[in-house]
Amino acid sequence: MSNAPPLNELTLRVIAGLKQTPKRLPAMYFYDEEGSRLFQRIMQLPGYYLTEAEREILTRQWPRLLDAFAPDGRPFELIELGSGDGSKTLDLCAAFAHAKADFVYVPVDISPHALNSLIRNFDQRLPGQQVRPRMGDYFYGWHRHSDTHRQIVMFMGSNLGNMDRDEALGFLRMIRSHMQEGDGLLLGLDLMKNPHTLLNAYNDPDGVTAAFNLNLLTRLNRELGMNFRLDRFSHYASYSPLDGAARSFLVSQDSQTVHSTRVDLSLRFEAGEVIYTEQSQKYNQAMIQQMAQDSGFAPALHLQDPQGRYCVSFWQAIKPAIVRHMLPNASHA
Ligand code: AVJ
Repeated sequence: MSNAPPLNELTLRVIAGLKQTPKRLPAMYFYDEEGSRLFQRIMQLPGYYLTEAEREILTRQWPRLLDAFAPDGRPFELIELGSGDGSKTLDLCAAFAHAKADFVYVPVDISPHALNSLIRNFDQRLPGQQVRPRMGDYFYGWHRHSDTHRQIVMFMGSNLGNMDRDEALGFLRMIRSHMQEGDGLLLGLDLMKNPHTLLNAYNDPDGVTAAFNLNLLTRLNRELGMNFRLDRFSHYASYSPLDGAARSFLVSQDSQTVHSTRVDLSLRFEAGEVIYTEQSQKYNQAMIQQMAQDSGFAPALHLQDPQGRYCVSFWQAIKPAIVRHMLPNASHA
């Protein structure tokens, strides 16, 4: 009988992904310390316009958001899923606070480190603002703080784009299930555009995105005892204008085997074989409308940057029409 400790979640998911054809790795594991540093650098790349475009929308058009969040001046909870250190949302909160909005900011993140810097930043720059951090995964400990407050959930940075269609719908429905009618969801979503622009955003000439992608293998070498050789894999980015999917891969430069000294995993790579590491979905109006409808929301406000690269979309939770169709006798009703 084995006394081996149970395998952790990363290990299980990595093994499951690498056993698929084509091989895959979950994008959520990019963000170890080095990966988070590299992502900070990506956000400053001239070609990675997403961060700047979202910031521009929020700083210029926040009054319309506040109007949509609190048309009647009713207090609200601003729940941000994946807040990180809150640096992207601090300015928005400051603007709301300056306009005397009555709200509690509820940043949710799995990283205690990020939440600690968030608390420091808010204490320094926005003392007096009510902040109620929640550490854990997005849905952990989610409960209604009070009946007086409307819930507004934020999921920014085009993070939804990392999910495929079914995952995104499941996720949006999960959010909807925690809400009451009239609550709101704010999404930052990257839009379909010139494929050259998009490809450039995921394939920068300085190789920062390549380093970000390859760092996943460094992490597996460290945490799973793998022996991936980084010089034998290369970053490949693609964009498909037909469905709006930007996808990243790691390409095996030659035929090779890679194995783990810690778990029972030995992998064979053909020359040119890929590992699919990330999807970054781009959207258009019709897709956004459809997603909202399929998850129990109605789009209420659509904000874009002046160049039309990116959008911040506000949805209202409505009575789910879905339930009716799912009743066994719906057709006789
Ligand atoms: C943080 C998931 C929104 O998909 O654009 C950036 C991550 N990957 N460059 C994105 C990422 C490569 C980013 N998201």
